Amino acid sequence: MTAGQKSNKPVALVTGAAAGIGKATALAYAKSGCHVAISDVQADKLTAVAKEIEALGVEVLTDVHDVGDEAAVRKFHQRIGAKWGRLDYACNNAGIEGAQGATHEMSMDNYDRVMNINVRGLVVCMQEQIKLMLPHGQGAIVNIASIAGLVGFPEMVAYCASKGAVVQITRSVAVEYAERNIRVNAICPGVIKTDMVDRVTKQDPETEAAYAAFHPMNRMGTVAEVADAIVFLSLPQASFITGQALAVDGGMVAR
Ligand SMILES: NC(=O)c1ccc[n+]([C@@H]2O[C@H](COP(=O)([O-])OP(=O)(O)OC[C@H]3O[C@@H](n4cnc5c(N)ncnc54)[C@H](O)[C@@H]3O)[C@@H](O)[C@H]2O)c1
Repeated sequence: MTAGQKSNKPVALVTGAAAGIGKATALAYAKSGCHVAISDVQADKLTAVAKEIEALGVEVLTDVHDVGDEAAVRKFHQRIGAKWGRLDYACNNAGIEGAQGATHEMSMDNYDRVMNINVRGLVVCMQEQIKLMLPHGQGAIVNIASIAGLVGFPEMVAYCASKGAVVQITRSVAVEYAERNIRVNAICPGVIKTDMVDRVTKQDPETEAAYAAFHPMNRMGTVAEVADAIVFLSLPQASFITGQALAVDGGMVAR
């Protein structure tokens, strides 16, 4: 390519891409032939993921920021527009579990923090993504919700509220932009073995077995199983699917 010429490969974006589901998704987009923009608060791990993406022969853009920082989120998306002039797929994955505990004793700072990152941050991301997608008359957004957005779990009121909001935001925005060919779906993972789950189970074998037993398949999911579903919902194979909240949960919410 000559200088100044922009590649016509699709461009994908993943937030929270330094680890876990986000990292697996960024690599899966790269393997499918996309250039990839990745963001996270963990600078060193993000750089390592960027190297893995580049080794797959596509371009990468990294940005270290907190997804709850509105100005930084907007600037990141502007960098994507400046670099590639387009955005085809976006996976809004960055999220936190927050503190668990009795609702009547919960700190409202915890509630505000979880809602700011998991909900407000995601909405700001979506605003900027839609701005990049509208001029091209196409795009697909996949928001990472949770089975905690579909059913209630005790002592997790902030997390459940945030993920329920992500499901409804997905439906609302999907309906609004359907005619303009921007699809919006959510993935609701069951328990997936990542750093987030290790923080909760403390890798105690008995606790891990109990978490596995939540699922009719009697195991936790893998990050690859979630990433594959995200890439499927992004690509044109899913062209008539929008506004859905797909549980990737070994059958948990089916019972
Ligand atoms: N692991 C599970 O069982 C599970 C289940 C359902 C939903 N989810 C959701 O999937 C998403 C990813 O979870 P995971 O298990 O891979 O988590 P993880 O903690 O292993 O990884 C999350 C990544 O996001 C980054 N991140 C966290 N807060 C951020 C912020 N404010 N700004 C930017 N980056 C931030 C972290 O640094 C990390 O790299 C989250 O939204 C989570 O709620 C996870």
